[in-house]
Amino acid sequence: QNLKHEELWGRGKVGSKEINEFLPSVLPGRTKDIVKASAAAIASEKSAPLVASAPIAIFAQGFSLNVGAYTGETNLPHLKEIGIGSSLVGHSETRWRKVNVYDTKSGKITKTYIQRGDTDEMINQKLKLASREGLGMILCVGEPREVRDAKGHVAFVISQIKKDLKDLSEEEILKTVKAIAYEPIWAINTGLTASDEDAQAMCGIIRDYLKETYSEELAKKMRIMYGGSVKPGSARGLFSQPDIDGFLIGGASLKIEDFANIGQTVNELG
Ligand code: PGA
Repeated sequence: QNLKHEELWGRGKVGSKEINEFLPSVLPGRTKDIVKASAAAIASEKSAPLVASAPIAIFAQGFSLNVGAYTGETNLPHLKEIGIGSSLVGHSETRWRKVNVYDTKSGKITKTYIQRGDTDEMINQKLKLASREGLGMILCVGEPREVRDAKGHVAFVISQIKKDLKDLSEEEILKTVKAIAYEPIWAINTGLTASDEDAQAMCGIIRDYLKETYSEELAKKMRIMYGGSVKPGSARGLFSQPDIDGFLIGGASLKIEDFANIGQTVNELG
């Protein structure tokens, strides 16, 4: 039997405005911790009191391994200093950075640059650092379209998890990895959502891998989440799956109505 965790994570530019509008609509009288908003390493003065009094936590979207006066980088000590105790790690947009240049008039993309971001080895270093520093991480994994088309997705995702968690003990994983988010790259920000069956199949495989490699206890305790164009219309079917404990939401978290609607579904089914 799986522990069904109720989790909803809005990833993206969720700021105090969204938090302000979202909370009352979905959480009246609720004490359970179901919403985690992630911020781009920004603890805004406006949202701080709200966050302190509400059942939410703020996660950063990422951090740098660099320490010192590196321009444009936020590291774990910085996060700690501003009271953010947790972060995403391994999101596909930070494994491979895509930088689009837009035509200001038409809004169309005129050029795209792809940059190498974090490798599995670096993600592993980040998880080890987080473990030493006592910070919680959401580890994101997921395969690109061509790997799914070639039916290599299971091997791809399991290999990511294996490399990312390398040399971390069961105890360290339980303490540090707050969730594993399965996010097929072809579904992120594309409007294409994995089917309930495909999403469940991979999340179930991840749980089985954790059970075989570590223990039943770890497999039960780990939150396994789905991310990739979750919308009000797909949330119910996905959240009804036994191994999907919650969602990591990008686009829909920017539309308060949609985010609140998904939150209500999670509330209702959880
Ligand atoms: P999406 O983003 O919901 O817009 O697909 C998911 C994510 O980037 O984690």
